[in-house]
Amino acid sequence: MSDKKILVTGGTGYIGSHTVVELINAGYQPLIVDNFSNSSPKILDQLEAITGIRPLNFDFDLCDEKATTNFVNQHPDITGVIHFAAYKAVGESVEKPLKYYHNNFYSLINLLEAFSNKKINFVFSSSCTVYGQPDALPVTENAPVKRAESPYGNTKQIAEEILAEVAVVNKNLRVTALRYFNPVGAHKSALIGELPIGVPQNLVPFITQSAIGKRGFVTVYGNDYDTPDGSCIRDYIHVVDLAKAHVAALNYMENGKSEKSYNVFNIGTGKGSTVLEVINAFEKATGVKLDYKIGARRSGDIEKIYGDVTKSAVELGWKSELDLNEMMRSGWEWEKYIKEHSL
Ligand code: WQD
Repeated sequence: MSDKKILVTGGTGYIGSHTVVELINAGYQPLIVDNFSNSSPKILDQLEAITGIRPLNFDFDLCDEKATTNFVNQHPDITGVIHFAAYKAVGESVEKPLKYYHNNFYSLINLLEAFSNKKINFVFSSSCTVYGQPDALPVTENAPVKRAESPYGNTKQIAEEILAEVAVVNKNLRVTALRYFNPVGAHKSALIGELPIGVPQNLVPFITQSAIGKRGFVTVYGNDYDTPDGSCIRDYIHVVDLAKAHVAALNYMENGKSEKSYNVFNIGTGKGSTVLEVINAFEKATGVKLDYKIGARRSGDIEKIYGDVTKSAVELGWKSELDLNEMMRSGWEWEKYIKEHSL
């Protein structure tokens, strides 16, 4: 077993589980901390089925300072942290802001304090949501951070500021913040994927649930935007490509390439797709006809965003490889797996 131990908080979640697979593939030993507040212990079985290794999971709440400190002190050989564990439902964050501020900040601060006197490479799960509606596209990492549209988005912005400021004074800490665009799709084994709780708010899980008959028609939230077909544009990225970016970020810090103690990277494809293009791509990739209707705009939606991913290619040595067709195909295979195994 590798001696390169990496703490993966939220490691049984959607992006976390895919990243655990890529860490094992790259020869790391992931240690997961996950209290299953937004995932299932079954994912550990799936990870073992995919990789042949059953990762260790430690089930405690990172908001518990004592438990977090004890865990870190019991594992002095952890060399890196990939921090996924956070609440991330935009709509819920508007209804329950304190739940989001409490959970997302207490967990982060407990981790930073527990590791404060240890040399650590820290990868943070951030989001393109920090840009709001960019003034120019594709959006680069130097674009101004705009006032968050939701408490969820605000927790990402403030967390980046906390990490940047702590990395200045704590010479043991190096941080790489990855600003995800829109993660979609599933592992090619169809053994792991996105498991939304309740009615999916995001486009692709709603599409696959509609296609399998779990939901009614898909509503396209507006077709009167200033885009080629009137529907919103996003930069959809395959979750496996996104997972690989986390391994690249660890390598980047381990190999001393990160001159600064805090770095930010856009993790997207650099290509924008409209909602209607995603629907068409799904139908083409799967042969399944979708029932969709044009509805009213969704409040809080920005019109269009896609990333400039030059910095990630040049400095991280990472770029996306999987296309929209594979995103739709793999997402559909996973939805069928969920139905066949009543997950
Ligand atoms: C994409 C597009 C919708 C559902 C969110 C978070 C962001 C990040 C990614 C974590 C939009 C349209 C959607 C539907 C639709 N999460 N849509 N019908 O809003 O870009 O980003 O997830 O970091 O922080 O905000 O993703 O999938 O909800 O929407 O027409 O039933 O699909 O209007 O244009 P979004 P999304």
